[in-house]
Amino acid sequence: MCTRYGPPDVVAVADVATPEARENEVLVRVVATTVNRTDCGYRAAKPFILRFFTGLRRPRRTVLGTEFAGEIEAVGGAVTSFEVGDRVFGYLEGPFGAHAEYLTVREDASVATMPAGSTFEEAAASTEGSHYALANIRAAKIGGGQDVLVHGATGAIGSAAVQLLTSLGAHVTAVCGADHVALVERLGADRVIDSGAADFTKDEKTYDVVFDAVGKSSFGRCRRLLKPKGIYLSTGLGPFPQNPILALVTPLLRGKRVVFPIPRHDRELLEDTKELLESGAFTPVIDRRYPLEEIVDAYRYVETGQKIGNVVIDLVGGADQPR
Ligand SMILES: NC(=O)c1ccc[n+]([C@@H]2O[C@H](COP(=O)([O-])OP(=O)(O)OC[C@H]3O[C@@H](n4cnc5c(N)ncnc54)[C@H](OP(=O)(O)O)[C@@H]3O)[C@@H](O)[C@H]2O)c1
Repeated sequence: MCTRYGPPDVVAVADVATPEARENEVLVRVVATTVNRTDCGYRAAKPFILRFFTGLRRPRRTVLGTEFAGEIEAVGGAVTSFEVGDRVFGYLEGPFGAHAEYLTVREDASVATMPAGSTFEEAAASTEGSHYALANIRAAKIGGGQDVLVHGATGAIGSAAVQLLTSLGAHVTAVCGADHVALVERLGADRVIDSGAADFTKDEKTYDVVFDAVGKSSFGRCRRLLKPKGIYLSTGLGPFPQNPILALVTPLLRGKRVVFPIPRHDRELLEDTKELLESGAFTPVIDRRYPLEEIVDAYRYVETGQKIGNVVIDLVGGADQPR
C-alpha cells in the first residue's frame, strides 16, 4: 500500500479485505505483477501533474500496480466474456491495484485471456513496455524498410520496441551499454552502438525515426540524425519539458518533427500484444523476480534506472513455470 507520495519507503505491505467483484467486474487472484517505471512515477507523483489525476495531497488509489496475470476466482452477475478459472492478464494504468493478491477488474477494461504458451510472469511483464512501444511505433507510422534508431534499447519499452520494429521489417540500430550488446542483438537489432564507446548523437548514419525509449535525449541533440522528414519520438517530456509542445509546433514547419502520442489504455491494444506474444514476435525481457514482501526492494532497484527489461513480483512462487 502507498498512502502518501514519496520514495520507495512509502510503500508498506498490509493485510486488507479481499475485494468483491461488482456486477460488471471479475475477481482475479494475481499470480504475477511487475514494478515498472509507471508505478514509480505515480508513487513519487513525478511529474507533479500526475497529482491532478491521482489525488492532489495524497494518492486516492492506495494499491499501485499496472500489469498483472492471474486466475479468475469470481465473476459479477452481468459478466459475459469471462468465467471462473479463466487465466487472464491485463494493464491497469489509472485504476491500478495489481500489487495485491486479489484484484477486481471491469470486464471491459484492458483485460484478456492469457496468451497461449506464455507463463504468468511473461504475460504480466508484457503489457507496459510493449504498450508504450506500440503506441509510439503506430503514432510515427513506422513500417518495413525504414531506418530506426532506438536509444535505451534495454529498458522495458526499448527492449519491446527493438523486437516489434524488427518484426515490422524496420532496420534497427540500437543504443545500449557494452554489457547489453549481445542481448540487444538477440532481440533483433541489425546494428548496436555501445553508448560507453561512442556518442550516438554523432553517428554518421541518418534515420527515418529516432525513438528515445529511455527519454534522456532531446530533439535538438538528435535533429542531425534525422532524414529531412524524420521523426523524433521520446518516452520523456524532455528537459524543459518541451516534447509535447514541439509535437504541436514542428509539424507546421513541414520538416523534421516530434511525435508525442498519448497512449490509449484499451483492450484492443492488449489483444494486439497477445497476438505478438503468441506469434513469437515479442517476448518480454525479465531481469529480476521478487516476492511481494520485498516489493520495496523491487522499487529501489527499478528506481536505479538500470533494470534490464522488466522486474516481476511473484505472488505465489513459480510464476515463471508453465502451468
Ligand atoms: N510516457 C510515460 O508515461 C512513461 C511510462 C513509462 C515509462 N516512461 C519513461 O520511459 C523511460 C523508460 O522506461 P523503461 O522502463 O523502458 O526503462 P528502464 O527499464 O528504466 O531503462 C533502463 C535501461 O536504460 C538504460 N539507461 C539508463 N539510464 C540511461 C541514460 N541516462 N541514458 C541512456 N540509457 C540509460 C540502461 O541500459 P544500458 O546500460 O544498456 O544503457 C538501463 O538498463 C523512463 O524514463 C520512464 O520514466 C514514461
